[in-house]
Amino acid sequence: MNVFGVDIGGSGIKGAPVNLERGDLAEPRHKVLTPHPATPERVVECVQEVVGHFGWSGRVGVTFPGVVTDGVTRTAANVDKGWIDADARAMLGDRLGLPVTVLNDADAAGVAEMTFGAGAGRKGTVFLLTFGTGIGSALFRDGVLVPNTELGHLELDGHDAEKRASTKAREDEDLSWEQWAHRVRKYLAHVEMLFSPELFIIGGGVSRKAEKFLPLIEGIRAEIVPAQLQNNAGIVGAAMAARAGARGSCSAAPLPPLPFRCPLPLLRGLPGRAPGGGLGGGGPGGDTRGGPGRRLGRPPARWSAAASSATPCARSRSARPRACRSTASPRVRRAP
Ligand code: BGC
Repeated sequence: MNVFGVDIGGSGIKGAPVNLERGDLAEPRHKVLTPHPATPERVVECVQEVVGHFGWSGRVGVTFPGVVTDGVTRTAANVDKGWIDADARAMLGDRLGLPVTVLNDADAAGVAEMTFGAGAGRKGTVFLLTFGTGIGSALFRDGVLVPNTELGHLELDGHDAEKRASTKAREDEDLSWEQWAHRVRKYLAHVEMLFSPELFIIGGGVSRKAEKFLPLIEGIRAEIVPAQLQNNAGIVGAAMAARAGARGSCSAAPLPPLPFRCPLPLLRGLPGRAPGGGLGGGGPGGDTRGGPGRRLGRPPARWSAAASSATPCARSRSARPRACRSTASPRVRRAP
């Protein structure tokens, strides 16, 4: 079964159909540059460009780099403040004319890694931490996600931790790997002091360069491993969340195991959710808008004015992403 996943990041917005049996991309991903400012209108337009590139018609999961509850984005540390309290699920669903699930980017990467990557089969307390523009965190207890933990904003040396220890901080301050590893070590020690995890999975683009810094991180009791899905974890996790939304419940069977079952009792029993449902019906931003039969590219109901006045973004079908321009009429293809 294929479901579409989109990962909204600080530098790029990328997506592809995902093969959920294998946990990898069914086709090479399409990426456009994140617009600046990354306003809701412009980002939604870029997501439409990415989804339209594949002529996709089916469920879509979308990650967002901030807190997401019931499809509403609550924080915006590294994107335009217009996202605070924006109904992202409605905006995207209306624009795409497709059922959409929205969840935090680190949570998405976490569920993908816990199912198909470095955390597969791991019990106990596990953290996936992404080091990129910010620091994202996903906490699992015996495979169950506790959404929206936002540990990138712990205080480290009197600063927001992600301002000190993200990949962006390393690049902005031109830190050596040793200097950066020292900060990451301090950050991990702080998280370990608070949660005593058994395992840290280090994600984000920097996981490809694990050999440069992981050996430099000493004195942490927990095991530390690089993520395996690397830059595709968010896309895969977004698609997994969208599939869970389609099920309307947290049950794993008969599809491949989902590690994120009913994380918070509070989330159970909300409208549209099966009894015992969690992310499956609207966990961290779960649930849907739009519906089958609505066509991709249909004019947005509530967002038409905003969209028409937005600066057109540029698209790229090449390996080198440019900004997006979602004016092309998309091909429509049914999800298998
Ligand atoms: C945001 C998180 C996000 C992380 C990685 C942080 O600034 O607050 O929600 O997961 O960046 O993108």
